[in-house]
Amino acid sequence: MKKRKTISNNRNLLRLLYNSYLPKVVNCAIDINLFDVLAQKELSLKEISGKINTVETITEALLDVLVAVDLIKINEGKYSLLQTANDFFLDVSKANIVSTVKNFSGSAGPFDNLKAVLREGPPVFNDRMWTNANSIASMEHQQYGGAIQNVLAFIRTIPEFKACKKMCDFAGSVGYFSFEFIQENPQIESHVYDLSEVCDLAKEMKKDEEYYNRITYHDFDMASNRSFGSGYDLFFGSHFLYKFNAERTLVEFFKQVNQAMNSGGLFVSNHITSNPDGENDVTLSIVELMTRCIGYPTHQLAEIDLKTALKKAGFGEFRTKYLADEAPYPTLLLSAVKIMEI
Ligand SMILES: C[S@@+](CC[C@H](N)C(=O)[O-])C[C@H]1O[C@@H](n2cnc3c(N)ncnc32)[C@H](O)[C@@H]1O
Repeated sequence: MKKRKTISNNRNLLRLLYNSYLPKVVNCAIDINLFDVLAQKELSLKEISGKINTVETITEALLDVLVAVDLIKINEGKYSLLQTANDFFLDVSKANIVSTVKNFSGSAGPFDNLKAVLREGPPVFNDRMWTNANSIASMEHQQYGGAIQNVLAFIRTIPEFKACKKMCDFAGSVGYFSFEFIQENPQIESHVYDLSEVCDLAKEMKKDEEYYNRITYHDFDMASNRSFGSGYDLFFGSHFLYKFNAERTLVEFFKQVNQAMNSGGLFVSNHITSNPDGENDVTLSIVELMTRCIGYPTHQLAEIDLKTALKKAGFGEFRTKYLADEAPYPTLLLSAVKIMEI
């Protein structure tokens, strides 16, 4: 069956879905006495975690969600309650709404174990979570709801893109971005690098798709193998650099990318970014809390970190497009040109 093209953008639906996790998150905050502790005095993250006996990284992400929905505020590193939390979430309040919140919190989902994670810390991250057919299909379908269209609109504006012939789709799953890039530029052959389980599925799932013969899948595990081909005019990375930044290995990785690319080649990135105005965004903070709860360090990559690392690895001539309204969470599209051999 030929899939229909999507016309509208899924951002509002995704925002709605993420926001539907809020009762669960707020209920957990009530349950661990977070609001009661803050009712007594303003406290730092360390003080809060000490008082309610929780893991700091997860507590921080939880507090960010509560700041984003105007229940708590932060001022010079100290958290305090806003009026709504004071009036409705404290044991001593006459208008206490705690049991109502509980009624909204029954659904199963990623925050069922939030309290346990706050107390004991997250599980070890399962880096095979994106390797089964269901999660691949869900990622692909979500990306076709606006993200792929946004990336295509961005690369169309980059003159160097038209001259590209060989591209690397790094951690590209089954290659849904590649299929669109090669239709946009009929000269491009794409090399998708991903875990062997994903490549096996890709060959099965995509073999009958038009343009399949212009894509090569390469079994690759970043943990044991840092060689991802050479001679690329275009190197594309979408939603994979977060961990490198958290582990401070972004420069080292970009140097390897530099060596795999031709001079004048184009690097393009599609990533969730922190909100440039510093305000807490509800969906972004919920995504971050979910991310930390599964043991992954972060799902945000700030523009400054990306550019600084790229500059150190011989890239320049940056172009950026910040997506605030067009995506469910703040997203940065960035392109850079390889201007120096490393
Ligand atoms: C969040 S998904 C992003 C997929 C795609 N680039 C996108 O933007 O939709 C992360 C991808 O990284 C791959 N991956 C995870 N760990 C990896 C590793 N150690 N080596 C290579 N790829 C890995 C996963 O299989 C998955 O396809």
